[in-house]
Amino acid sequence: MADGSRSHFYLILLSVLAVCSASYFAFTGITTYFRRRQIKKQNGCEPPPRYPHGLLGLDFIRATLREAERKKMLDTSRARFDKMGGTYSATLSLQPMIFTHEPDNIKTVLSIKFKDYNLGNRKNSLGPLLGEGIFTTSGEHWHSSRSMIRPNFARDQVADLGAFERHFKLMLRKIPRDGSTVNLQDLFFLMTIDSATEFLFGESVHALKADASTTNGFAEAFNHAQNMAARRIRAGKFAVFFHGKGETEAIKFCHEFVDQFVDQAVEYRRKLDEEDKGAVDEKYVFLYELAKTTKDKKRLRDELFNVLLAGRDTTASLLSNMFFEIAKRPDIWEKLQAEVAQLNGEIPSYETLRNMKYLKYCMNESLRIHPVVPLNSRLAVKDTVLPRGGGADGKSPVFVEKGALVSYSVYSMHHRKDIYGPDADEFRPERWEALRPSWEYLPFNGGPRICLGQQYALTEAGFVTTRILQEFKGIESRDPGPWVESLSLTLSSHGGTNVSLTPR
Ligand code: HEM
Repeated sequence: MADGSRSHFYLILLSVLAVCSASYFAFTGITTYFRRRQIKKQNGCEPPPRYPHGLLGLDFIRATLREAERKKMLDTSRARFDKMGGTYSATLSLQPMIFTHEPDNIKTVLSIKFKDYNLGNRKNSLGPLLGEGIFTTSGEHWHSSRSMIRPNFARDQVADLGAFERHFKLMLRKIPRDGSTVNLQDLFFLMTIDSATEFLFGESVHALKADASTTNGFAEAFNHAQNMAARRIRAGKFAVFFHGKGETEAIKFCHEFVDQFVDQAVEYRRKLDEEDKGAVDEKYVFLYELAKTTKDKKRLRDELFNVLLAGRDTTASLLSNMFFEIAKRPDIWEKLQAEVAQLNGEIPSYETLRNMKYLKYCMNESLRIHPVVPLNSRLAVKDTVLPRGGGADGKSPVFVEKGALVSYSVYSMHHRKDIYGPDADEFRPERWEALRPSWEYLPFNGGPRICLGQQYALTEAGFVTTRILQEFKGIESRDPGPWVESLSLTLSSHGGTNVSLTPR
């Protein structure tokens, strides 16, 4: 073909391609428009109020970052609901968003229309540390992870309190008995990494035993990798471009450290397969139970990290937030003391903990006022509908387009005065004498992805609280101001939990 006719041919080919793609986009655009119009009509959808932000929502994002810096992000997001109503929309960095604190909407996303949503960007943010496991995946993979992990939270394992007592004893050695100030929050974070690693790996990392020269470094490396992951979550869609200083090294260290335990578990599985039962240690270990279902070392490591991340900071944060409040309230401390006195100095069992009503009210109230996972979101994987938030009165259903992110605030919902009364902002455990909330109270999430470690966490937190009350007759807060948010992957107290304790 001559040069002239060849370029003519390419020109025609390009034009045909351009027309075909334009027709394709026009066709799908038109059919999507009509399909969506029908869904809206059938469901009586009305648009929710739209947040009045500027181009790309940059002003909204900047304000949120500023408030995060000032440790006021949760109250600011709550004030937006006061201004806009229970549900509103925005488009931030081209991402369509719906914000809600309506229990009916949250129930729809997490349970009734569970299959219409996935976790969105979580895998990009947490993937480098956690890989693919129960906390980072959706669909089939999540389903198989959940089936693998769930049996390990059966009552017998959860109720083994011997390990909690051993770790508590180590923590006790670090609490001054001369009335000087101690930051309990630091100790709770050390204790929960010790107990969680023993539960999961079969061996504790003994962060509470460590001093600067003996530390094995796992707790520090894990904290660092986790903090970098929390920053990546905040980067949203741009998470893949974020890489924290020292993150690769920290993740490598964590992986290599845990791989030793994984190797041991696979060896255990090999012995089991060969039916060399005599060579097999019968002690219950979470990882060893997982190894009965797979020999895939990467899969085992990923699941371990997923559960470690889900379970460690959460319980420590609950304890820190709760002690921050009760240290300032001698009346609550006295009531807890009276309840604990009924144990006559016995170390609590699973059953006794279950019967300690006032302790349970305090934990409920702490998780209400300072929910450890205060904000969360799900991405719509198909066009779908929320039951409330549309129209002038906010009572009509709302259309949610495929690709929109529904961001829900458990924190705002837990502080709603129309649900919890005019004293919703107060720490008042007694309110639980009469409260029986359903989806209005959601510290552990709901629906098919409800927290698997709820009983484990409440047992550990209840145990530690009871033991502190048994060892110390008095507590005094050394935090002069009110509680201030510290929002990383979980919500804890910015200044820590500084107290002085008086031994019996
Ligand atoms: C006070 C303590 C705790 C709180 C408030 C809490 C809260 C939550 C919440 C809100 C979720 C849902 C996250 C989401 O889907 O976006 C969750 C999931 C999960 N939690 Fe907890 N958690 C706590 C302790 C624990 C502990 C101690 C463990 C394990 C030892 C644990 C294991 C898990 C697991 C495995 C999931 C993932 C469930 C799934 O996606 O199917 N949690 N937790």
